[in-house]
Amino acid sequence: MLEGDKLFAGSIPENYDRYMVPLIFDPFATDLARRAASFAPRAVLEIAAGTGVVTRALAPKLAPDASYVVTDLNQPMLDYAASRQAPDSRIQWRQADAMALPFEDAAFDLVCCQFGAMFFPSRPSAYREAKRVLKPGGHFLFNVWDHIKENVFADDVTNALARIFPNDPPRFLARTPHGYHDTALIRSDLAEAGFSDVVIETRAEQSRAPSARLPAVAYCRGTVLRTEIEARDPGKLDAATDCAAAAIAARHGSGEVAAKIQAHVIVAVA
Ligand SMILES: C[S@@+](CC[C@H](N)C(=O)[O-])C[C@H]1O[C@@H](n2cnc3c(N)ncnc32)[C@H](O)[C@@H]1O
Repeated sequence: MLEGDKLFAGSIPENYDRYMVPLIFDPFATDLARRAASFAPRAVLEIAAGTGVVTRALAPKLAPDASYVVTDLNQPMLDYAASRQAPDSRIQWRQADAMALPFEDAAFDLVCCQFGAMFFPSRPSAYREAKRVLKPGGHFLFNVWDHIKENVFADDVTNALARIFPNDPPRFLARTPHGYHDTALIRSDLAEAGFSDVVIETRAEQSRAPSARLPAVAYCRGTVLRTEIEARDPGKLDAATDCAAAAIAARHGSGEVAAKIQAHVIVAVA
């Protein structure tokens, strides 16, 4: 991971929530919220909450006397999440780095995290923090994207951009969001942090959009890929988006498009 890969700021929060969330994050948020609620937790911590797609799905499923602390490294993402959430006295918003959580030991029944672990420079450090703040027997529930080849639009966009920037292709998507898919490594990182009871399930969903242009806009403007494209040539964002849209249309058609997305869902018991 490069240092800039964790910077979700500027226009990214709005474009991320508008385009990326419906495209690939919504179905997995529904799944994570359902699994989280099945543990009937009273004290919940969410890390790397982004613009709050899981928070919106999970809050209605929690008990009236539950407490729900929602955190992210980047304050602009959290601000966006808070602006979209209905008033809820159970929710507390707090900026926090997953690797240095500002909470007491054994404070939570459940720690959940959707598609955040890939951005942590040291996963064992973040997992140790999750274990520290969990009560004994509490659950650490999170998901990570599978290999980019199992996530078709992300792969299409990455291949298209390699044609525009052949000497220095922007590899953010393959490097970071899709760079932590090895389940043996995930298990060993969790073991290093002290988790012994771990279940991993691989889950496929369909990513759907009204046109080929939408996934191109989502990936090129609603992720750190935008920063990578602009760093190479600030004038080429439109051309890069057009090229990605043309590649998706060539493969998936010019009307509604749909393609596979796949992730690993992990439950570890503290
Ligand atoms: C792909 S987004 C996922 C956001 C949200 N969970 C969702 O499903 O839409 C990754 C998130 O990780 C956050 N992040 C990156 N590094 C982090 C860290 N060290 N600690 C906490 N959050 C971090 C980013 O700010 C971003 O909001």
